[in-house]
Amino acid sequence: MSLLDEIKSLQSQASAELAAAASPDALEAWRVKYLGLKGAVRAAVLKLRDVPAADKPSLGKAVNELKNSLQAAYDARAVELSVGKVRRGGPAVDVTLPGKRPAFGHTHVITQTINELCDVFGRMGFEVAYGPELEDEWHNFDALNIPPHHPARDELDSFYVDQETMLRSQTSTVQIRVMESRKPPVRIVAPGRVYRPDTVDATHSMMFHQIEGLYVDEGVSMADLKSCVDQFCKAFFGSDVATRFRPSYFPFTEPSAEVDFSCPLCRGAGCAACRQSGWMELAGCGMVHPAVFQAVGYDSEKYTGFAFGFGIERMVMQRHHIPDIRLLFQSDARFLRQF
Ligand code: DAH
Repeated sequence: MSLLDEIKSLQSQASAELAAAASPDALEAWRVKYLGLKGAVRAAVLKLRDVPAADKPSLGKAVNELKNSLQAAYDARAVELSVGKVRRGGPAVDVTLPGKRPAFGHTHVITQTINELCDVFGRMGFEVAYGPELEDEWHNFDALNIPPHHPARDELDSFYVDQETMLRSQTSTVQIRVMESRKPPVRIVAPGRVYRPDTVDATHSMMFHQIEGLYVDEGVSMADLKSCVDQFCKAFFGSDVATRFRPSYFPFTEPSAEVDFSCPLCRGAGCAACRQSGWMELAGCGMVHPAVFQAVGYDSEKYTGFAFGFGIERMVMQRHHIPDIRLLFQSDARFLRQF
């Protein structure tokens, strides 16, 4: 076969094989076979040495054209085969498919509840106040009329960081901090975390959330406390919810009471959630003790006030029928996504 015929048949054979090369591997094999250092085009170039001088220009041109045409065909085929391919040799990816949607997070159910509580109390004229979680004994105990021999002050009942510093065991600390920093009238709610070294079980955690309320002005009465708590319960749990007050004791209030609200599930008839009583415990509350006013420099002859403290986890659990407090403090997104 003459070199010219050889070039012609190489052209058609290579073109047919290139069209049939359907994978990157096949394409590479084709490139080695025809355009490689020891490939067919190179072999044709070497054969030019042996052709008569008169034929060299035309044959040289033909070999050159073969080389350029195969290189161009190779480049085009390489682009075809790599369309939609991210990684060389990797699986083909259809770039026209819709992408993966990023997962959007949302606030934790406790944060949602705190926001809602602040919203309800905000509409009732309360502003939101915050205090530190790392507290001193003055704000956590002394100023709240909790005497040195009180069991809550025992080392085993609070998380002490050093002799005087501790993780606060109640948000009542914020009452003191707010009253120390401003004059009456004061009307605040203070949500936040509190810490107690309780043994963890279905209803106890060493960290939980409270929301504290404080209203101080001239002429504030127990009737104001009762109507405030009652209106709050109706706004938060539903307008048909009733409240009741039971006498209780807290060092920083006198008189003191505990508030129950009628079980929203059985409407007072008695069910498993309310242990057949028809009522659910909500909060401690009372009229601010004169000793507390004294500690912050308020005139207890002129001013009166009420205070309350709610446990937030309990409200969340009752509202969403969550049987175990520990579920609220784990990071399982399947649980958290429900709220
Ligand atoms: N601080 C109390 C506790 O953690 C709850 C409480 C009771 C807060 C009565 C109050 C109150 O403001 O008046 O158990």
